[in-house]
Amino acid sequence: MDLSATPPALSKRFRTRRLSAVFGVEIEGLDLAGRVSDDDIAEIRRLWNECGLVLLRDQRFSMEEHIAFSRRFGTLDLNQTLLPFRHVKHPELLVLSTIPVDGKPSKSENVGRHWHTDLSYTTRPPLGSLFHCHVIPEVGGDTVFANMAAAYDALSEAFKQRIEGLEAVHDYMQVENMKKRDPAMVAELKKLNPPVAQPLVRVHPETGRKTLYLGEQVARRIVGMSEKEGAAILDFLHEHAADPLFTYRHRYRVHDLVLWDNRQLMHLALADFPPGAHRYCVRTTVVGSLSGRVLEG
Ligand SMILES: [Fe+2]
Repeated sequence: MDLSATPPALSKRFRTRRLSAVFGVEIEGLDLAGRVSDDDIAEIRRLWNECGLVLLRDQRFSMEEHIAFSRRFGTLDLNQTLLPFRHVKHPELLVLSTIPVDGKPSKSENVGRHWHTDLSYTTRPPLGSLFHCHVIPEVGGDTVFANMAAAYDALSEAFKQRIEGLEAVHDYMQVENMKKRDPAMVAELKKLNPPVAQPLVRVHPETGRKTLYLGEQVARRIVGMSEKEGAAILDFLHEHAADPLFTYRHRYRVHDLVLWDNRQLMHLALADFPPGAHRYCVRTTVVGSLSGRVLEG
């Protein structure tokens, strides 16, 4: 990776700031609760594709406005594979919260604590996610993102050839903290999410770049290989892709809106806050193209 060249300006339309040398951009001075033109949307989409992650701070819009803004990027997922975490009034919103409900722990308090790409265990993994923060703990609650296109590029040609055409099995039930969740909820999630074989290398439909397609706990097997062989390749790739060189760690502020591209990034939601700390965020998810196949039995 050549980091020596002076990077060109990212946008002629917006004031922007790079978040890391490899990916991520902040757009400054744009209020999404005001009028956002189609040309603004086209430029945000271009930055989202080019940079993988777009940050807009201080967006004080309502849940309805969050949903309306997200719809301008495509059809929204109604969270039917994640029913227990769906917002009761707005099916387009997934709730990621540590705040107890009726004296019981929040159902989503342990979600996303491993490297993953959202919904990789479905046959329609999303284009991207738009994550809005309502309550943030005094410290922690960060998300780390890793750029899987940069990680792919850094592999040797020999290794790239070895993994071309392989499929990894993504199985949501393999998530380790599933054991900590309510058994009835786990049974429901199991019914909704059978294992899916996904290409290990995908081509980003808008940038044309090749990317790894991973998920630390969900992808444990490679089709046609023994468990040990598959695990050796996947363990290496997960470690390689999570190299700090390819990552950006985001420290949220209240009212942050973060758009990430699930076709080129994976991420990890850290539980790096004190017990009892409150965090409440909601996510919309833009539907992507078909990918992978359901495995029977
Ligand atoms: Fe996630």
